[in-house]
Amino acid sequence: MTKRISVLVVDDSPEARENIRRLLRFDDEIEVVGEAENGQVALERAKEFHPDVILMDINMPVMDGITATERLSLEVPESGIVMISVQGEAEYLRKAMMAGAREYLVKPFAGDDLANAIKKVAEVEGKRRRVRQAEAAPAPTGKVVAVFSAKGGVGKTTLAANLAVALATDFKARVALVDLDLQFGNVGVIMDIAPPRTIADLVREKSLDPELLDSYLVDHPSGVRILPAPLRPEQAEMVTGAHVDRILSILRRMVDYIIVDTPQALSETTLAVLDHAEQILLIATLELPAVKNVKLTLDVMSSLKYPAEKIRLVLNRYSDEIGIPREDLERSLHFPVSARIPSDGRTVVASINKGVPFYTADPKAKISQAIRELATQVAGTGGGEAAPEAGGGPRRRGFSVAGLLRRR
Ligand SMILES: Nc1ncnc2c1ncn2[C@@H]1O[C@H](COP(=O)(O)OP(=O)(O)O)[C@@H](O)[C@H]1O
Ligand SMILES: [Mg+2]
Repeated sequence: MTKRISVLVVDDSPEARENIRRLLRFDDEIEVVGEAENGQVALERAKEFHPDVILMDINMPVMDGITATERLSLEVPESGIVMISVQGEAEYLRKAMMAGAREYLVKPFAGDDLANAIKKVAEVEGKRRRVRQAEAAPAPTGKVVAVFSAKGGVGKTTLAANLAVALATDFKARVALVDLDLQFGNVGVIMDIAPPRTIADLVREKSLDPELLDSYLVDHPSGVRILPAPLRPEQAEMVTGAHVDRILSILRRMVDYIIVDTPQALSETTLAVLDHAEQILLIATLELPAVKNVKLTLDVMSSLKYPAEKIRLVLNRYSDEIGIPREDLERSLHFPVSARIPSDGRTVVASINKGVPFYTADPKAKISQAIRELATQVAGTGGGEAAPEAGGGPRRRGFSVAGLLRRR
């Protein structure tokens, strides 16, 4: 079934509000989501709930219904307003319509009349809203690239940061780098930024919208825009999967690539990222514990029906001389290796100490060339047809890794 029409009931008489609730109780297309006893409270509630329809009495203390309607049409234009009043006079009707109301009902009214007025207004507002959205919002064309590993210390953060820089500089792409290693995020250290505010502050704001999110992104000299992790581990739990979902949805309309550094756990927030991701870079090193975790991760992802094309296995600190031979690895994992990043402690450490990503500090180094190849792969895939929102609405809701794990 489609979403129910949400209704806010505004009337100074508690009996009148209760009466309206009663009239609408058995209509399964309509849901009363809140009440307000005057225009002032109605404004606050409307900003909080964004109801589809507001039923508005006219004569009320503190702020009357006509004034409230005038303000609501400007401040919460997505809600359609139905005036309800004992006064049936033409003068009131005219005032209400001038103020921005869409319908007018005279008390007392029958349940059918009320429900029909609500449905009519909701339908018109729905159309209006779709047109407005189509005009205002750019298409969500940004691609989410999750950098993940079930083991720590394999180079997720190092690779995420340098990949972001490569895409922003050599590929002239608009790139956001989101540090979702919420407890021990290190993107700030590698990129040498001292963020005034972090994602922990962002999610505490009242309404998370594009403009606000934009003001939280820290501009790095490379052009990469960074959303920093909380400064302290205890702030991590303030960020939920729903926040991550919202943040990524907004970023997809703002930039071309969203590179997300993740912690080494399949936490709720990590799963929200993997759900959004067009590409998952699964980082591994050629040591047994790392390989064991890669195998487990691939198993989980395959039982969750993640398409294999979505996952790229990236070997970091690669060397031909040491570690498990690549062919053996591919055979035991039944999975191809997409990229190999050489081990180069000297370059990596020097760059961290300088506070400049190695991709910028030493573009000729082998490790930088390997990052460039990885960036080419990332940029070359995940075309428009694979974009999750291409079908309209949110992505395959019925099939989220988060949902599946919760169900177990
Ligand atoms: N290709 C590499 N060569 C040499 N050292 C590396 C390489 N990749 C990462 N490192 C080093 O390994 C350590 C762990 O890297 P990091 O990116 O913090 O891992 P993770 O984010 O997976 O925990 C860091 O000290 C980093 O400098
Ligand atoms: Mg890390």
